[in-house]
Amino acid sequence: MASFFQDKNVTLGVTGGIAAYKSVELLRLLTKAGARVRVIMTENARWFVGPGTFQALSGEPVCTSVFDEGDAAIRHIDWAQSTDLAVVAPATANCIGKLAGGIADDALSTYMLAVTAPVVICPAMNTNMYAHPAVQRNLDILRGYGHFIVEPDAGQLACGTTGPGRLPDPAYIVEKLTAVMAPDDFAGRTILVTAGPTREAIDPVRFISNPSSGKMGFAIANAARQRGARVKLVCGPVALADPVDVEVHRVDSTRAMHDSVMSLLDDVDIVIKTAAVSDYRPASPAVHKIKKTADHLTLALEKTTDILREIGQRKGARLVIGFAAETRDLQENAAQKLRDKNLDLIVGNVIGEAGSGFAGDTNKVTLFYPDGKAEPLEMMGKEDVAHRLLDRIAAMPKP
Ligand SMILES: Cc1cc2nc3c(=O)[nH]c(=O)nc-3n(C[C@H](O)[C@H](O)[C@H](O)COP(=O)(O)O)c2cc1C
Repeated sequence: MASFFQDKNVTLGVTGGIAAYKSVELLRLLTKAGARVRVIMTENARWFVGPGTFQALSGEPVCTSVFDEGDAAIRHIDWAQSTDLAVVAPATANCIGKLAGGIADDALSTYMLAVTAPVVICPAMNTNMYAHPAVQRNLDILRGYGHFIVEPDAGQLACGTTGPGRLPDPAYIVEKLTAVMAPDDFAGRTILVTAGPTREAIDPVRFISNPSSGKMGFAIANAARQRGARVKLVCGPVALADPVDVEVHRVDSTRAMHDSVMSLLDDVDIVIKTAAVSDYRPASPAVHKIKKTADHLTLALEKTTDILREIGQRKGARLVIGFAAETRDLQENAAQKLRDKNLDLIVGNVIGEAGSGFAGDTNKVTLFYPDGKAEPLEMMGKEDVAHRLLDRIAAMPKP
């Protein structure tokens, strides 16, 4: 899996809130992503989760006091100097106040004053506490220091109140942390990604479609957002959750995808079209369900609008990247599509090869460039393909 956490030092600060149990899962996800995680707990956090849990899962000593035994007297300074990212989750109102005021009366608050790496704060508390002007002022002060704040979720809280204050899911926090760790090479650029299949109605209960899962397009949308882009994702019917911080437009037919894409195109700098749209649709879909009476049934099909060609024609200063899924003659077909549709790059894959194409989590693609160059990539996860593709797009001259 592509990971910006591989071999990075992450410090996880845990404070005395009811959501402290979620930081155990956060630690697990970060270590799974390749990070070396060191935990600093407040005295009050120990009331909610024992240091032994963090120690066992991180494989590292847990710092709970500036005055721990042994080498711990300077541990907070050592850790502050060697960390690549510091995250406090959950961050209590008390901790937020201390960080805003520069108070250093325990291991975590002392450490946080010494750290120079990016800092992410995940507030979690009762809704009224969160809404209090003192807490909001303190969060603004932290923003002013350049710290990233992960806004709490709204919903029913453990204390019985309803409203903002709940610590988001650890997987969501990891997505936010990834955006902090990833390069910012697409900052200021807007990317439109299409994904998934389309459905062309035969009658009200049947349609023509294909097995595209949307995973490749979703991986690209997510990777581009991690790298600082503003991302719009237009997708056909897929069983995937909206990626974090991506503007998602869900459509069904090729016509609906066309209309959505064209309405969004104006302020887009880069278009990446992974969607497996239907080339043909039933010319006259039946108004009512077709009954099983005749022995043979012939469907008259008509061509759908060629979305990629139209984007190529309206290209302007945009970069346009297409995908070609072929069962044979990949090089010839991809090269022709690249020329015909005025593309800057086309990503080709052979359907039917192991580990490549629709639905799976891996892909084996070849990148074809307008100068005739072909760059075959080894088989890899779709997230890695997404980042490799973005690496190549980042290297293209900006208009
Ligand atoms: C059961 C319980 C749950 C608590 N949950 C929270 C919480 O979610 N957020 C918060 O800011 N404080 C919460 N508190 C209050 C903090 O524990 C208290 O302010 C403490 O001083 C925080 O210490 P620390 O910031 O050093 O960890 C809770 C207290 C108790 C007893």
